[in-house]
Amino acid sequence: QQGPAFDANAMTLTRWVLAQQRTAPEATGDLTQLLNSIQTAVKAIQSAVRKAGIAKLHGISGDTNVQGEEVKKLDVLSNDLFINMLKSSFTTCLLVSEENSSVLQVETERRGKYVVCFDPLDGSSNIDCLVSVGSIFAIYKKVSDGEPSEADALRPGNHLVAAGYALYGSATMMVLSIGKGKGVNGFMYDPSLGEFILTDPNMRIPDKGKIYSINEGYAAEWSDGLKNYIEEKKRPKTGKAYGARYVGSMVADVHRTIKYGGIFMYPATQSAPKGKLRLLYECNPMAFLVTEAGGLATNGSQPILDIKPTSIHERAPCYLGSKLDVEELLKFLH
Ligand code: AHG
Ligand code: MN
Ligand code: MN
Ligand code: MN
Repeated sequence: QQGPAFDANAMTLTRWVLAQQRTAPEATGDLTQLLNSIQTAVKAIQSAVRKAGIAKLHGISGDTNVQGEEVKKLDVLSNDLFINMLKSSFTTCLLVSEENSSVLQVETERRGKYVVCFDPLDGSSNIDCLVSVGSIFAIYKKVSDGEPSEADALRPGNHLVAAGYALYGSATMMVLSIGKGKGVNGFMYDPSLGEFILTDPNMRIPDKGKIYSINEGYAAEWSDGLKNYIEEKKRPKTGKAYGARYVGSMVADVHRTIKYGGIFMYPATQSAPKGKLRLLYECNPMAFLVTEAGGLATNGSQPILDIKPTSIHERAPCYLGSKLDVEELLKFLH
């Protein structure tokens, strides 16, 4: 289809968020401002990711984070960008980052009502070989009185007011939900404009897919239920075998799962009974988006979004994707 070479009326992310705000009479514009600050961080991170080699941003920083992982230079830069943009938006009071062992309280003069949990750079083991990476964020509204504290972040994913991710893939994309029942929308970055443009309105995950996604290197440590499920995907009693895809960057694996359908799993194993992925800034925001797109997300015994967190860096097994695929998995797990 031949369209005009230049769209004179593009729906940018900024414009879209503003339009949403206008439909909510009680909205103050704070969430709009907050999302704009995340957008700025994402633009800067994507620019850094794209020229990481030449900008000498490859490699390790020399530090180890609270989860015992080797921190990369791009992890540090992305974290600084998120923190600085969020604090200076005057809309947040408490931040939880993968890269900070404790919660960050925003100084009194710059405080607003939102609590943001984020993974500034997801998939950092993939940086040095130029495979897709991402950023993930989850936004709560503070409901307690008094000083912001850890308790304000230890809330089930069902209470989120917004969640999203940025994927720094072959193109950069932001995928966003601004609340329960409000669906999921995708915005592709246009570098010539420096703007995210609505390209994937109302994203819906297919009810059933043809792809399973899991790190099979740890198969020896899986439960029997999971082993049987994967076996069924490879050698089905009836029908065709599933294809396997595993990028090793959660954002890329989840984005593919939303677009094409199928199932993504980071399971419980013998040596890691809660898996690897972190509830507050990996499992919850992704579970929120997948659920909003019509899919399911579970830890094997309950919906991810129902889990009541007890510590900010806690982990949870994560199985998410197409409704029928996740339901089939659950039959095997039980
Ligand atoms: P991060 O880079 O933010 O620490 O996250 C890494 C995560 C996630 O992106 C991915 O799904 C998972 O690690 C891959 O882990 P394995 O290498 O164990 O499969
Ligand atoms: Mn990490
Ligand atoms: Mn991550
Ligand atoms: Mn990370």
